[in-house]
Amino acid sequence: MQETIHRGLVGVVADTTEISFIDGDQGELSYRGYDISELTEASYEEVVYLLWNGELPNAAELSAFRDELAPLGALPFEIVDRLRCARPDTEPMHLMRTAVSNLACHDPNPDEVDAENVRRIGHRLLVQFPTIVSTIERLRHGLEPVDPDPELSIAGNFLYTLTGERPTEAATHVMDVALVLHAEHGSNASTFTARTAASSLTDVYSAVTAGVGSLKGPLHGGANEAVMRALEEIGSVENAEPYVMETLAKPHGRVMGFGHRVYRVLDPRAAILARVAQKLARESGESKYWEMSLEIARVMEREMAKRQRAVAPNVDFFSASVYRMLGFPIDMYTPIFAVARISGWMAHLYEQYADNRLVRPLLAYEGPKGKKFKPVSSR
Ligand code: CMC
Repeated sequence: MQETIHRGLVGVVADTTEISFIDGDQGELSYRGYDISELTEASYEEVVYLLWNGELPNAAELSAFRDELAPLGALPFEIVDRLRCARPDTEPMHLMRTAVSNLACHDPNPDEVDAENVRRIGHRLLVQFPTIVSTIERLRHGLEPVDPDPELSIAGNFLYTLTGERPTEAATHVMDVALVLHAEHGSNASTFTARTAASSLTDVYSAVTAGVGSLKGPLHGGANEAVMRALEEIGSVENAEPYVMETLAKPHGRVMGFGHRVYRVLDPRAAILARVAQKLARESGESKYWEMSLEIARVMEREMAKRQRAVAPNVDFFSASVYRMLGFPIDMYTPIFAVARISGWMAHLYEQYADNRLVRPLLAYEGPKGKKFKPVSSR
């Protein structure tokens, strides 16, 4: 029988979901029926509640959700100690993945995958993720970790535990927008990885650790770091066009922050982040990265049109300069993506565990057949 092979699972619909919808031709993304552009007016907690429960919370529900989360953000001291013992030049994503896996060892009930236990772990991970990232950043600069402040939001606490100073409302709002935009995106590589792991009915920590590992790759969440490294290499607006042309001249050359498996037009998250980047550039007077980004986008639009390729900026293209202007170090960009995406992963794990079927596709075998075994002495 001739199998149809879908390399990269292109076009394969693996299951149903009620969490988010992407129209790649129109450049639309909605969470539970709400257009993403409207949700940037909500706090991250409201959006997480929406993703996890199917509807936006009313004031009482939001307050109860915040109260539930408030005491859960601190890390067990053993986790902090292990992070402290790592080589100082360890990539933050390695530390993060290890810390997430390690959290299972400090949970008295890590393995049960009934709805109640999975949600209990989800609540903890949601607020422990930002603390893991800020703890990694502080420790490597010889600073002691700061415990989250129960009075602050997730976005506010992330900035607070990172810097030790209470953030401004404006900075918290930008952080909220970034978290909302990165929270969920259907069957992306890391979410599919987490769902696939969970489909063996392994525990939440294992599934989420797998998701973190997948997110790290430069074709997925790691692209935001690659974008900023490219911007640093380019260095000036004048160098942007030669950089793009040289990159495209290489076999399978990729300009990072462009292209998407699903979007054939501009990623709607990139459009929103472009406006945020422009505003930050205007307010901070640091417009270099914004201007370089615009020039790269201009040249890419021209070149992709010539090549008849549907390739436009994706979420990682403008998030890089937004994070730069917020003052985050480059190797924190992907961990920050994980801080947001944990909410999407958990929403999908709730769905997966609630109606599970083992994910087990086929591979078309192309190797030799019928070989005869010989003992080692006669090979
Ligand atoms: N730069 C230049 N040309 C591109 C790019 C790009 N970034 N992306 C796609 N193309 C062109 C190219 O012509 C390619 O043909 P060829 O392989 O012959 O050179 C054609 O479009 C098809 O691209 P593809 O890589 O086969 O498409 P894909 O759906 O398999 O991959 C992608 C999608 C996101 C991996 C790819 O566009 C890419 O590598 N982009 C750069 C990395 C990046 O920005 N990743 C973030 C993705 S969005 C957020 C997230 O998931 O984290």
